[in-house]
Amino acid sequence: MKADDPSEPSWNRRRFVSTSLAVGVPSWMSAEALQAETVAGVAREAGLLLTLGPLLGPVDHASAMVWMRATVPGEYVLEVVSERDGGVQRLALSAIADMDLCLHWHIEGLAPSTRYQYRIWSGQALVAGRPGQVIVTAASPGTPGRVRLAISSCAREDEGSRAVWQRMAAENVDAVVLLGDTPYIDSTDREVQLRRHREFAAVEEYQQLLASRPCWWTWDDHDFAGNDASGLAVGKAASRWVFSRYRPQQTYGVNGEGIFTRFRLGALEVFLLDTRWFAMTEASWADPVKPSFLGRVQWEWLRRGLLESTASFKLLACGVIWDDKENSESDDWGTYGHERRALEAFIGEHRIPGVVLVGGDIHASRVLRYASRERVGYDLVQFIASPIHGETIPSLNVYHPHLKRSAVEPHVFLRVDVDDTCRPARLESALINRHGEVVFSYVMTADDLKPA
Ligand SMILES: [Fe+2]
Repeated sequence: MKADDPSEPSWNRRRFVSTSLAVGVPSWMSAEALQAETVAGVAREAGLLLTLGPLLGPVDHASAMVWMRATVPGEYVLEVVSERDGGVQRLALSAIADMDLCLHWHIEGLAPSTRYQYRIWSGQALVAGRPGQVIVTAASPGTPGRVRLAISSCAREDEGSRAVWQRMAAENVDAVVLLGDTPYIDSTDREVQLRRHREFAAVEEYQQLLASRPCWWTWDDHDFAGNDASGLAVGKAASRWVFSRYRPQQTYGVNGEGIFTRFRLGALEVFLLDTRWFAMTEASWADPVKPSFLGRVQWEWLRRGLLESTASFKLLACGVIWDDKENSESDDWGTYGHERRALEAFIGEHRIPGVVLVGGDIHASRVLRYASRERVGYDLVQFIASPIHGETIPSLNVYHPHLKRSAVEPHVFLRVDVDDTCRPARLESALINRHGEVVFSYVMTADDLKPA
């Protein structure tokens, strides 16, 4: 990200206010908190414009990002209180038009494996003080532990999607990863993008889920531009402008291009790929007579990250699927087989263990285990998790010789449990529906993903 790029969020407007050690933890559901909740409830019922959030973006062992959209410009103070020692940190930020009044607090200096309560103030007024506003920092890097993730794609603001947000919370996931069509926008018009992001963020169950769990997002065609859109989509910069306001991330692609990002959580590292911004816009880094999917800058970022990563499991997650959809559309890795084959060859050549593929998009859920031992060094596995809403597409659940599990099931997410307290480390995944039923499950260990 260029520091002087006017399209980037204005990080530097934040102002550190104070750090102090308070005497004891303040009583959580205080009179002000109750009052703020009541006011919010009345306003919600009246359909009035409300603050959106707060919700959590990236959280690691030492820092957290908190997001909120204010209704009026001005200064807002995030107050973070350690449940362990009552220590208080405050961080002020200005809600400004250039950020569409979205606030991204990035609070640092947190202790690992610690619970913090947080509230947001505007002067003396408590703007956000739900009892569920909690940050739980990750364990210190290198500490063996267990992590539970929810991964899925394709959500609307309907009752079924809301039930999935509630189910993710009931399953006690530590973090959420959303792979696009979250929300459906189908336009690059900035006003339409803004309106749809606001409508999506206003869903009560979504806010409740993410008030206490970190979330990472990428986009797919419908939140990027429209059905089957590539990087040639007119107006894509407006989509990125809005995404970088409504999605708190530490980075958005490179040099003002793309939105890809990565994070580490326990034994897991997730590379959230952007398979829209660069698609069809340049010659492929893998084969110059064919179009690129990832784009050269994203490929350079990914290959560096894969070489650096020490995680037992490296999830390469994107909106699209890693196969050919076998319909008339071109937005899948099947169209860019040259880049998938080059990626596989790279993993094999550098003997990179633990790579797992993840996709969304097709409104059906699947597990594939490819016979890729010769190229990769082990059999790659792909998980496809979709949809959170109710509109399944049975015709995209096509035959594949390497298909291990499949389900055309509405309102689902993939629950991924990673455990490195045992040897070898384990990755247990289960497709969960809104009722909490396990639709299918699939287990593997780090030994299954070791170069032969
Ligand atoms: Fe979708």
